[in-house]
Amino acid sequence: MNSTAASPAVDPVPAAAMAEQVLEVAGLNTRFDTPDGEVRAVNDVSFTVARGETVGVVGESGSGKSQVFLSVMGLLASNGNATGRVRFKGQDILGLPAAKLNRLRGSRMSMIFQDPMTSLNPFLTVARQLTEVLVLHKGMGERQALKRSIEMLDLVRIPEAARRIGMYPHEFSGGMRQRVMIAMALLCQPDLLIADEPTTALDVTVQAQILDLMQTLKREFNTSIVLITHDLGVIAGLADRVMVMYAGSVVEEGAVREIFYDPQHPYTVGLLHSMPRLAAGRKERLVSIPGQPPNLQRLPKGCPFRPRCSHAFAPCSETDPALRPTGPGRAKACHLDAMP
Ligand SMILES: Nc1ncnc2c1ncn2[C@@H]1O[C@H](COP(=O)(O)OP(=O)(O)O)[C@@H](O)[C@H]1O
Ligand SMILES: [Mg+2]
Repeated sequence: MNSTAASPAVDPVPAAAMAEQVLEVAGLNTRFDTPDGEVRAVNDVSFTVARGETVGVVGESGSGKSQVFLSVMGLLASNGNATGRVRFKGQDILGLPAAKLNRLRGSRMSMIFQDPMTSLNPFLTVARQLTEVLVLHKGMGERQALKRSIEMLDLVRIPEAARRIGMYPHEFSGGMRQRVMIAMALLCQPDLLIADEPTTALDVTVQAQILDLMQTLKREFNTSIVLITHDLGVIAGLADRVMVMYAGSVVEEGAVREIFYDPQHPYTVGLLHSMPRLAAGRKERLVSIPGQPPNLQRLPKGCPFRPRCSHAFAPCSETDPALRPTGPGRAKACHLDAMP
């Protein structure tokens, strides 16, 4: 008897044990055409976001964080072009026609920004804007949509939601407007919420409240969250995993604890040192990373971080180090074997 034919197919990894990937990005490159030449904003970026997982994306301003996710959402500026593979719940979505993307955006995946007014229309009441989403994406009737919208404002802890829903965006404070935007992004219970510097413009107290709110929502809905920030402090309490970006590339990746307690890339170490910390009630002096990120129109030969790196040695000026695994769920793009 042929033994291979008789034995049942055995899956080496039981399907249930494998985390469901909500987002899979592979070899993403984003370029902008400008009169001065091509801007290489995103360079060969690959990562995944699992169901219920919160991934923090950190890096200095201009490191390509926003462009990665605007590429994913199909929201690049008209002079931009993204290539590679983007899969959302198993479906290839990069370059999908606008009509199909619109159906996913705002229902299955949502993005929120630093400035709530990029998502809110100043001329329409909050009620109008929230109910419209539900009518459009969920086919709800007006009454049911209004009821659901008020519930959502309650959920993001807007006091007197039933009354305030009739107000215009400018009648809310900055923090409350941010809550309205989060409520709108979550109305259809998306599988993926991309939050791009959601608390950067807010004062520390309101920032803490919004982060706390996101923590609750994460627990309640099991939504996958991507939290983009230049401030490592923001992701400490919220992210499961962290992706560190420099000059359009991922330079280090790992569980949040590993990134904070055992950083392996000199740039990550620099970011940690430039984090404001409260020591004995007074602010420690900030040590920012000396130098500037490279010009993305003329990336230098070798490692893009080399000119600012105090550990650079010969190979660093020769080849750009690839992102390579250094342990389970960990990777870095650095020629050093270990941090000295
Ligand atoms: N429309 C555009 N045309 C040319 N360059 C752009 C355009 N949009 C973004 N860029 C460039 O892409 C790079 C990455 O930007 P971005 O992703 O917004 O950075 P981050 O979010 O990390 O601060 C920046 O150098 C920025 O100048
Ligand atoms: Mg940005």
